[in-house]
Amino acid sequence: MSLTFEGKVVLVTGAGGGLGREYALAFGERGASVVVNDLGGDIKGGGKSSAAADKVVEEIRAKGGKAVANYDSVEDGEKLIQTALDTFGRIDIVVNNAGILRDRSFARTSDLDWDLIHRVHLRGSFMVTRAAWNHMKNQKFGRIIMTSSAAGIYGNFGQANYSAAKLGMLGLANTLAIEGQKYNIHCNTIAPTAGSRLTQTVMPPDLLESLKAEYVAPLVLWLCHEQCQESGGLFEVGAGWIGKLRWERSRGRTVRYKNQSMTPEAVRDQWDNICDFTDATKPASVQESLHTLVDALSKVDSEGGVAANPTASAATASSASGINPAVGQKLPETTFSFSHTQCILYALGVGMSTKDPDHLRFLYEGHEDFSCLPTFGVIPSQAAMMDGGLASAPGLNIDFTQVLHGEQYLELYKPLPTSVNTYSGEELVCYNQWSVFVVGAGGFGGKRTSEKAKTIVPPPKRAPDAVVIDSTTRDQAALYRLSGDWNPLHIDPSFAAMGGFKAPILHGLCSFGFAARHVLKQYANNDPTRFKAIKVRFVKPVLPGQSLQTEMWKEGNRIHIQCKVKETDAVVLSGAYVDLHGAPEASPEKLPQGGGLQSELVFAEIGRRIKDVGSELVKKVNAVFNWEITKDGKNAAEWTIDLKSGAGALHKGPYSGKADVTFTVSDEDFMEVVQGKLNPQKAFFAGKLKVRGNIMLSQKLEVILKDHAKL
Ligand code: NAI
Repeated sequence: MSLTFEGKVVLVTGAGGGLGREYALAFGERGASVVVNDLGGDIKGGGKSSAAADKVVEEIRAKGGKAVANYDSVEDGEKLIQTALDTFGRIDIVVNNAGILRDRSFARTSDLDWDLIHRVHLRGSFMVTRAAWNHMKNQKFGRIIMTSSAAGIYGNFGQANYSAAKLGMLGLANTLAIEGQKYNIHCNTIAPTAGSRLTQTVMPPDLLESLKAEYVAPLVLWLCHEQCQESGGLFEVGAGWIGKLRWERSRGRTVRYKNQSMTPEAVRDQWDNICDFTDATKPASVQESLHTLVDALSKVDSEGGVAANPTASAATASSASGINPAVGQKLPETTFSFSHTQCILYALGVGMSTKDPDHLRFLYEGHEDFSCLPTFGVIPSQAAMMDGGLASAPGLNIDFTQVLHGEQYLELYKPLPTSVNTYSGEELVCYNQWSVFVVGAGGFGGKRTSEKAKTIVPPPKRAPDAVVIDSTTRDQAALYRLSGDWNPLHIDPSFAAMGGFKAPILHGLCSFGFAARHVLKQYANNDPTRFKAIKVRFVKPVLPGQSLQTEMWKEGNRIHIQCKVKETDAVVLSGAYVDLHGAPEASPEKLPQGGGLQSELVFAEIGRRIKDVGSELVKKVNAVFNWEITKDGKNAAEWTIDLKSGAGALHKGPYSGKADVTFTVSDEDFMEVVQGKLNPQKAFFAGKLKVRGNIMLSQKLEVILKDHAKL
């Protein structure tokens, strides 16, 4: 079937000669009504004449086609579109082609040379396209071509002004393709090569002859046809050849190490790797591009303070002067009231159903064990951030459409009540930590991480101990929003399209709620009092209607989780875990109590010392240390040395609050350190001793560990 344009109205700018003329003739021949625009000036943008456009209109009509002339400059975009509407009643296709040249070596480029080029190419394309946009949007059809140039893509001597404007048009097209997606408006960019008056001075005559404009037009016609689904593409075209371009990005290297400042030396030392295109990727959207950064962040975090460059100095806080005033800001106190209605609405929002008799205790206020789901704890904190003036915090001048929710940590200090009237912070119920990425909001100043940040923890390297699959409904996000997250991204298709999503996506915190209740059911018999804390990283979006697959690994009272979309196998929550309060059935088999571990003896001795001189140590140290002792790569025991409260205490298991510093070390290495055979600093740099939290406190270790060599 041949491609025709019957009933379509096309505007070709600069169609009085060269490439534009060729497009206009080709569209006219295939049934389109054509607006032939040309200012009729010289190649430098001077002069004006109606002759060029008139001649092309005559040519089209002579062949039985429909055409009308327009002599306005593309800078008056509205007028061009008005001609289309007045004559043919609509506008379907815009080919931004008009162009001039004012080549100069850069040093000699005048303001006028720069401005004229930008006005015709970049601003002109903007003015014309904007005038057509709403018509295309309303009729849910539009095709737009931007004419870029190899000079823009690769640079070309003497064309700084032209290169800049031409690549500006590509940037414009990239965004129009995203914003137009939902309305069937496609926008593509071509970088043509053809003999014309613009190129006759730079190319030899016989080459010009073989680079005919008619070898470019067929690509433009195809891209503008309703059958063509291409959008956001960039094509080089000439001499009958067509190729597509895309961005390629090296795998790159993270040159920042946990708890250390980032240095230019580290950049220098990794330069070859940064620039190595082996296994390069081809990110195609801001979202894809950002994932790499998110991964890099997680790498730095999960490396637990292992420095790849032991000579780099340990963390020093960046100069206070450059730090954004938003750091450390306290939001005003807010009040959040809720009743059983909100608890039930939330439970429905995260997929609970009366189909499952177990769920009734969260859905029916008359149930004898009626409870609020623990993850409801994120809701008041979100309300506090949104209503509490986060947007107006000093120094937080961020674009809220560019905010991506990266991670969430929630810890409950007591089970959530099922209704609360007012709260003024008298009793601490829960703690929330939100990690968000703001695209394009760099240059913040200060450190890029925080000691306060709860880090994600990768799951053990074995098949999951349990897997639960649960489907979300088509209306899951519509229901979840009612709990207080009103972001239109989750319901409004055009808003979602602006964010680069095909359809509205599920709230990350909704998947979070699903995963948490899967754990609660699997490992805590749906008992909310067993829930202590949850941490997740949001990796990819879920579409309402997809199924969530929660994979769980039990390690003592910590349940590691990973959540996937079942249909696509894409990981959506990673590095996640739920900490439960101990219960009779908590598996002691994984935590060898005493026996197997040499470190048990040392901790016993530390316990005795604390009994003797605890209050003295509390004065000196004033910190809570958490120890995770591993054996054969698995967590084998956990100890808390509390030298902060009272007369100090040692107990087995994690700290009920937040430890100031957490050490992870194997039983063997712990003994080496204690016996003075392994210097703690060396152990740290060798990756044998991992430290989370306030690393500076490790200096106080000596006070606690010394004199144990005799053990
Ligand atoms: P051309 O000079 O034959 O055609 C450009 C047309 O645009 C002219 O008829 C001119 O009167 C018209 N025009 C200039 N300013 C205008 C304005 N303000 N309003 C309305 N019309 C105006 O040049 P050619 O080669 O056909 O170029 C077409 C497009 O392709 C241009 O945007 C050019 O930069 C681009 N291009 C061409 C290449 C080639 O090899 N010919 C290489 C790369 C890009």
